[in-house]
Amino acid sequence: MLLKNTNFQYISGNLFAEAVSIKEIADKVNTPFYVYSAANIESQYKKLDNALSGLKYSICFAVKANSNLSVLRILSKLGAGMDVVSAGEYLRARAAGVLGKKIVFSGVGKTLKEMELVLKGGIRQFNVESEEELDTLSMVASKMGVIVPIAMRVNPNVDAKTHEKITTGKLENKFGVPLHLASKIYDRARALPSLEVVGIDLHIGSQLTEIEPYEEAFTKVAKFTKILRDKGHNISRIDVGGGIGIPYCNSQETLISPIQFGDLIKRCLSHLDCEIQVEPGRFIVGNAGLLVSSVIYTKQGGKQKFLILDAGMNDLIRPAFYDAYHEIIPVVESENITSELVDVVGPICESSDIFAKSRSLPKFESGDLVAFQSAGAYGSVLASEYNTRPLVPETLVKGDKFAIIRSRPSLDEIINRDSIPEWLEL
Ligand code: LLP
Repeated sequence: MLLKNTNFQYISGNLFAEAVSIKEIADKVNTPFYVYSAANIESQYKKLDNALSGLKYSICFAVKANSNLSVLRILSKLGAGMDVVSAGEYLRARAAGVLGKKIVFSGVGKTLKEMELVLKGGIRQFNVESEEELDTLSMVASKMGVIVPIAMRVNPNVDAKTHEKITTGKLENKFGVPLHLASKIYDRARALPSLEVVGIDLHIGSQLTEIEPYEEAFTKVAKFTKILRDKGHNISRIDVGGGIGIPYCNSQETLISPIQFGDLIKRCLSHLDCEIQVEPGRFIVGNAGLLVSSVIYTKQGGKQKFLILDAGMNDLIRPAFYDAYHEIIPVVESENITSELVDVVGPICESSDIFAKSRSLPKFESGDLVAFQSAGAYGSVLASEYNTRPLVPETLVKGDKFAIIRSRPSLDEIINRDSIPEWLEL
């Protein structure tokens, strides 16, 4: 029932995160809420760390996957750097205690203000995604009197064989610069003041479950590195991005093991003697989180039975947005093992507020607690307050310790963020 390699388990029919009962957390925090296992995050990080040993490498966690300060702190204590895509993520990483020299700034549309902020705070590497961005960065850095280490993000035109909405390495995608234009842009970078080329960057997509697309991309980038070096560019770092997929369902799934990933890097890139940088997000935190929710009602519809939860698409948008599959499990196992086919839905006024269609689940009743597995990545970070529902809280477990790491805002706090101008006085 439970996904392998997690630190969630049933003890006498009760779901636990490490040594803490989920039911106990629910009693204290109320549903819906996210719960993360620190040990799970640590063990995932260590798996990748081991798989890359033997290389010169650095792991920069993709903050977009889960940006809670406590999650960032766990990783930074393990030595991780961070990959950020906005001023907000940069400041979160800094607030978690990460030094500027361990932070990589990625993203297709960095603003001038964001550039100023991170250059002031210090940065390990800027991943530049267009010629215009290069010009702006050079201008900003010159004005500030700093030299910026940069890598161009190249678009290798490789099909990552993942969901269309999380594919980033094909020519029609907005990301990076096409390989055939990249060489000229590197020449331009050399000619511009205040920029120091240090490497190449790529990221072909997320939730990759096959190794071949990586192989194709790394092979292209290795060739391109030689071309750049022949032209005298200093390429001492290759940022291979993130994207390693994780299990989402209990049936057999093809997946890439970290060892396979590490071996591929060694085979395709180690002869270049570059430092390898990876930007994993989902692999580190995805399986380490659950979204816990309560059944509000069950109802017989015209065609199917509905399980109506107190979590909605505003709390976990992946099923509605990417047709993503998340296992749904009971928090307290029932003696009655009858199962039934149900549509699991949220309370939001949208037909797309569906978590699962025709899912065979144990018979649940109003008040029962359920947990969505693999919700640690792109779960809480994508949550919203749609329908004026408070942003879902986050909790963290480590051994027998438990803490609320982001509390639920009150409805007053939410409503009082708005204001009514005096010219709309009643
Ligand atoms: N580096 C860059 C430049 C990225 O754009 C991403 C993810 C990562 C690294 C981390 O990828 P990961 O290791 O987590 O696969 N919201 C979607 C996923 C969007 C991924 C965006 N970029 C989802 O829920 O599936």
